[in-house]
Parts: sequence; C-alpha cells; structure tokens
Amino acid sequence: MDRSFLINEIKRLKTERNACTLAHNYQVPEVQDIADIVGDSFALSRAAAKMDKEIIVFCGVRFMAESAKILSPDKKVLIPSKYAGCPLADSITAKQLEAMKSKHPGAAAVCYVNSSAEVKAISDICCTSSNAVKVVESLKEDEVLFVPDENLAGYVAEKVSGKHIIPWPGHCITHARITVKDLVKTSKEHPEAEILVHPEVSEEIRESSDFVGSTSQIIDHARKSSNTEFIIGTEIGVLHKMKKDNPDKKFYLMSPRLVCENMKMTSLESVYRCLLNMEYEVSVPENIRKKAENSLEKMLCIE
Ligand code: 13P
Repeated sequence: MDRSFLINEIKRLKTERNACTLAHNYQVPEVQDIADIVGDSFALSRAAAKMDKEIIVFCGVRFMAESAKILSPDKKVLIPSKYAGCPLADSITAKQLEAMKSKHPGAAAVCYVNSSAEVKAISDICCTSSNAVKVVESLKEDEVLFVPDENLAGYVAEKVSGKHIIPWPGHCITHARITVKDLVKTSKEHPEAEILVHPEVSEEIRESSDFVGSTSQIIDHARKSSNTEFIIGTEIGVLHKMKKDNPDKKFYLMSPRLVCENMKMTSLESVYRCLLNMEYEVSVPENIRKKAENSLEKMLCIE
C-alpha cells in the first residue's frame, strides 16, 4: 500500500475514532513518526495512564499494551499485531513466581515491566529499566526477588547496597546476541566513540561500557553528550530518534543482530488496519487488572 495513503488514512482514522498512538523507541521509523508519543516503557506507562483519548493504539509488544489497559481500564486498547510478544516476559509464569515467593517468605517481589499481567498482580511493585534502582532502594525489605531479567537484576545489585537480590534466570534474546567479539570489533573500529548500552545486556558487556540506561535515557545521553561518536548496545530502533536529534553525530550499532523481531511486527499498514477494523483489542481480567494496577501505580509514585 502507498505510504502517503497509509499516513493520511491513519491521521483521518485517529481523529474519527478519537484515538492516539503510543510507540516504543524500538518501533520502525515510520511507525515512530506517526505516533503521538514515542518513548521508553516508563514514559509510555505514564502516558497511557493520563491519555484523554477513547482509544489507545499501542505500537509495541503485548506486555506494554497490557500495561496501558491495566492503567487505563476505561479506554479501548488495541495492538496492531496480535503476535507481538516478548520472550523475556514469557520466561516466568505466575506459578513460578509464587514458588519463588514461598521459598523466600520475607522477601519483596519486584517485577520488571516486561512481564505478564498475572506476574505483575502477585508482585509487590513493578519497575522499568529507567527506575529499577530507585524502586529497589525504596523497599524496606532487605531481601528482594527480582524477575524476570537477570541482567537488570545484576545491574541493580551493583548499584544498590544493603539488599540481597535474588534474580530469576531470564534474559532478552535480542540483547543476548551481543558478543564480546562485537564489542571489541566496534570499539577498535571507532576508538573515540562512547559506548551506551541497555541494562538488559550481559554483565561483561555492561562492564566495558561508558553509560547504562533505558532506551530514552540512552537517547537523552547521546543528545547531551559533548562526544560526537557513539556505539549503541540496544535494539536498532533507537537509532532513528538519535540520528534525527543529532544530525552531526555518528552512531554505530554494536551488532547487526540487534533487531527485535517482535517489535518489528508492527508496520504502517498494520497500524492502519488496526484503526480501520478496531483490532486487536487487549483485555485483562478485572481481578488480575486491579492487583497489577497496584504494582504499576506504586512504581509510578516513585518517579
Ligand atoms: P525501555 O524501558 O528501556 O524502553 O526498554 C524496554 C524493553 O523492552 C527493552 O528490551
């Protein structure tokens, strides 16, 4: 379908249906460009909670759209691709978290936002990569179950003193594709470049980097830094805003394999079809939604 036709139709349908589109920083450039808000998981959760439109089209993966529904139960939340999931979020079930909790009865349960609504519902508080350190610091318990990302858990354990962090052994398959060889190669090719990575990368990659942050924190850092060259250790989607914001700076992806197939399932055409056919609607059973909302709201109060 013709690109300008799709853009005009999306604009028209958004007005007609009183809809907005939220897009994660990992979305393809053309989907970011038609979005009302583009951001990291934290910014998008906050935006979803405050949106005044009747319909939210969430251009991201399922757990993100689910979080929007949890925070805005009276809105219709649609996701353009019903298959856009997150293997990291799927790596732990509520039953597995229950078992972990019963082994550590005095511990607080913190779940990364990359988790199902059921896991959020039985956690004490949620966090995103931008506020995980603050969330864990805010807890009164010394023992903390941190699920499902073991790399983010390791990063938090490094930053927060006086807490015993017990991680779940999950990880992001996209970030796990970065090898030390990739890091050595890109650093040799661009010795002056600053290395910016997401906390979902492995410990050995994180330890050799200059800055660790969420997707939006990486984007902000590149804009504010006096450096002109950057090696990026997260999904390719972030390069779009970075290049737009900094036309005179140079960005190199740490590995060509940093492409999340799930994030790339959304296209201009699927956003158009989503608005046209009002599909696919995201729902969360009310008993689970209420409990999950509590974990998300607690997180939103922290930052
Ligand atoms: P951010 O919260 O940094 O946007 O990351 C979301 C995510 O899913 C990373 O893989």
